Amino acid sequence: MSQMKHIDNNPSTPGKCKMEKSPYSRPRLHYSLAKLTFWSFVFIGSIFFFFFRSPSSSSPVPSDLSRRSLRTSSYGGPAWEKRIRASAKIRSRNGISVLVTGAAGFVGTHVSTALKRRGDGVLGLDNFNNYYDSLLKRARQSLLEHTGVYIVEGDINDAALMKKLFDIVPFTHVMHLAAQAGVRYAMENPSSYVHSNIAGLVSLFEVCKSANPQPAIVWASSSSVYGLNSKVPFSERDRTDHPASLYAATKKAGEEIAHTYNHIYGLSLTGLRFFTVYGPWGRPDMAYFFFTRDILKGKSIPIFEAANHGTVARDFTYIDDIVKGCLAALDTAQKSTGSGGKKKGPAQLRVYNLGNTSPVPVSNLVSILERLLKVKAKRLIMKLPRNGDVQFTHANISLAQTELGYKPTTDLQTGLKKFVQWYLRYYGNGKKSAQ
Ligand SMILES: NC(=O)c1ccc[n+]([C@@H]2O[C@H](COP(=O)([O-])OP(=O)(O)OC[C@H]3O[C@@H](n4cnc5c(N)ncnc54)[C@H](O)[C@@H]3O)[C@@H](O)[C@H]2O)c1
Repeated sequence: MSQMKHIDNNPSTPGKCKMEKSPYSRPRLHYSLAKLTFWSFVFIGSIFFFFFRSPSSSSPVPSDLSRRSLRTSSYGGPAWEKRIRASAKIRSRNGISVLVTGAAGFVGTHVSTALKRRGDGVLGLDNFNNYYDSLLKRARQSLLEHTGVYIVEGDINDAALMKKLFDIVPFTHVMHLAAQAGVRYAMENPSSYVHSNIAGLVSLFEVCKSANPQPAIVWASSSSVYGLNSKVPFSERDRTDHPASLYAATKKAGEEIAHTYNHIYGLSLTGLRFFTVYGPWGRPDMAYFFFTRDILKGKSIPIFEAANHGTVARDFTYIDDIVKGCLAALDTAQKSTGSGGKKKGPAQLRVYNLGNTSPVPVSNLVSILERLLKVKAKRLIMKLPRNGDVQFTHANISLAQTELGYKPTTDLQTGLKKFVQWYLRYYGNGKKSAQ
C-alpha cells in the first residue's frame, strides 16, 4: 500500500506536477503514471532478482564465508548433478553414502577407495590447493575416477556449494579430512590454517547441522593436540591445552568446536587423532617422503636431536591401519539426533587416538630407508628447532581397540617397503623427481 501511495504522489519526471491540475492533461498524466508504474516494477523486480540470486540470503553460514558461491563457480547443471549422484550411489546392502572432504589428499584417497570398494556411495570434495605438488593430487584424482569416485573441485568454505551437494545427495555420513596440514608451514602461512581448519570446519558443521537428515561426521584431528605433553603413551584423557604449533592449536580448536555443534545441534561427531601417517601416495612434505627423495638425489638430510642428545621419535602409522580405523569410526557412528538445525536429543561425541603404539627414532627410519633404497644417506644432525615439532609421539590406542576394534598390524619396516616400491614406480626409479 505504502508503495502504491509513493507511486501516486510522485512524478516520474521532475516538473510535470502542474499537469495534474488541468483536465486536458489526463492522457499525459495516465502516460506518466504508466511510465512510473513500469519503472517501479523494473526497480522492484531487480531487487527481487538480486535477492534470490544471492547465495548468502539463505545460507546458514555468515556471509563472509559464503561469498565464493555457485554464482561464480563453473560447476552446476544436470550433467554435473548426474555425476554426483552416480558417485554417491550406494551399491551394497546396508551401505552408507559418504561425503569425503580432502579426497584428493593422502588419507582421503585411501579412505575413498576403501569405501567405494565395499559398495558405499562416495563423493569427494577438494580444493586442490598447491600446498604441495598438485600433480600428485591430480594423479590421486585419476586413481579415484577409475574406482568410480568423483571429486568435486571446491572449498569447504563455499557454503552454497556445500548446501547444493546436500540438496543433491542426502549423505548419511561425512568423512572430513580436508585441512591445512603440516606443522612448520604454519609459520609461513598462518591464515591458511585458520581458513581451512577453523573457518572451513565451521562452514561444514553449519551445513551439516541444517541438513535434513543430519549426517554423522567423522573428522581428522591430530596427535599434535598433545603438544608439550610429556606423559607417555598419550591417552585421550591427557591434557591437550598446551599446543606447540598453530596447526595443533587449530586442531584443538576443532575439537572444541565439535563439542559445541554436538551440544547445540545434536550432530554425531567423532574426532580421530592420527599419529604420523605414512604410505604409498603419501605427502611430500613429510619426513619419510622427502628423506627418500633427498637420499636418492644424494642430498643431505636433517635429523633432529632434542636437548642433551635426546632422541626424536614418532609413532609412525601405516595408511592401511588408519583407513581401517576411519571405516570402523564411520560404521560405529550413531545417527545425529537433530534435524533442520534443531537438536532432538543427546548425540554421540567421541575422540580416539589412531596410532601404532610403537614409536621409532627418526634415525632408525633413515636406516630402514637406506636399506630399501640401497643408498647411504648423508645425515646432518641438527638441534630440533622450535617451530612446532615435538620430541616424540606415542599413542595409547586402548580406547580405539575396545570401541572400534582398531588393531594396527603393519610395522615400519613393512610399511616403508610398500612406500618405497610405490615411490620408485611413481617417480620412475627416481628419474622423475618428486618436488
Ligand atoms: N598424514 C598425517 O600424518 C596426519 C596426521 C595427523 C592428522 N592428519 C589430518 O588428516 C587429514 C588428512 O591429512 P592428509 O595427510 O591426507 O593431508 P593432505 O594435505 O594430503 O590432504 C588434505 C586435502 O584437503 C584439501 N583441502 C585443504 N583445505 C581445503 C579446503 N579449504 N577445502 C577443500 N579442500 C581442502 C587439500 O587440497 C588436500 O588434498 C587432515 O585433516 C590432517 O590434518 C594427518
